[in-house]
Amino acid sequence: MAKQRVLTGITTTGTPHLGNYVGAIRPAIEASRDDSIDSFFFLADYHALIKCQEPALVRQSSKEIAATWLALGLDTDKALFYRQSDIPEITELTWVLCCNAAKGLMNRAHAYKAAVQANEEGGEDPDYAVTMGLFSYPVLMAADILMFNAGKIPVGRDQIQHVEMARDIAQRFNHNFADVFTLPEAVVDDNVAVLQGLDGRKMSKSYNNTIPLFLPEKKLRKAINKIKTNLLEPGEPKDADDSTVFQVWSAFASEAEIQRMRGEFANGIAWGEAKKQLFELVNAELADARERYNLLMEEPQHIEKVLQQGAERARDHSAALMRKVRDAVGIGPIS
Ligand code: TRP
Repeated sequence: MAKQRVLTGITTTGTPHLGNYVGAIRPAIEASRDDSIDSFFFLADYHALIKCQEPALVRQSSKEIAATWLALGLDTDKALFYRQSDIPEITELTWVLCCNAAKGLMNRAHAYKAAVQANEEGGEDPDYAVTMGLFSYPVLMAADILMFNAGKIPVGRDQIQHVEMARDIAQRFNHNFADVFTLPEAVVDDNVAVLQGLDGRKMSKSYNNTIPLFLPEKKLRKAINKIKTNLLEPGEPKDADDSTVFQVWSAFASEAEIQRMRGEFANGIAWGEAKKQLFELVNAELADARERYNLLMEEPQHIEKVLQQGAERARDHSAALMRKVRDAVGIGPIS
């Protein structure tokens, strides 16, 4: 049986945090160990340019994200791990798809619509500060996906629409030219926790409420101590289901440990004690990986080598697919 092909990209803006780890990186690496799956993971650095015009940040984030996945034990002999910008066929395919994707479809993309709406509400021209990059974002993402004939695309809810657009674009191309593309499907795992941040809202860089994944131990302890709690005293029963401390606990603990902590909450565990136990739990899961991460960050040439090897393997696929695409649309040698 052909292996299931799973692909996902990580935009290289920002430092990986506990929410990224629990919600995306940990499940992806786990899934990649399954022998019936072919995993494709890549650094979406061209996507980073859409929202970040600071070269140093894009560079640093690429390094941190790559080091994170490697430190967490991604097996790069098995999974294909590469950088989007190392695959020139992706941007080539983007153009061909641009000539197929309906502009009207792109008008409906959430990210673009949100920008236009914000402009209108602020009394600006609707397209104020909207770049062609932002507008065409879903086409680049479609190229990422269709390039590797990926069937399953694990994403957060906010990305479902983009995967559906990729499917739409693929269908249209297959219909107009030749049956070149596999139709992709978004996969949203409801069992994976959407982690809460320091202030109790979803942990996200845009809310500035994150706990970076590989903080040094002392800083991790400090960050966990900053998680917002209510004013209940030690001895007063606490509502586990209304607590960020418990929510983060649940993302790291075994089922038995979750039940034990639920009991401790009912028995009025002090916030200081609950946070101390939370720190120990999280730290125990991350300590070895953090050490590997720190070593990798000191050895960028190793990270680069792994990415180059990934790119080489990825290009076997992308070069072959791009030949088919060019041929289908009538681009190529004169004969
Ligand atoms: N746009 C995605 C995000 O911001 C990242 C991404 C880029 C991606 N290309 C992709 C995800 C292809 C899945 C498949 O989260």
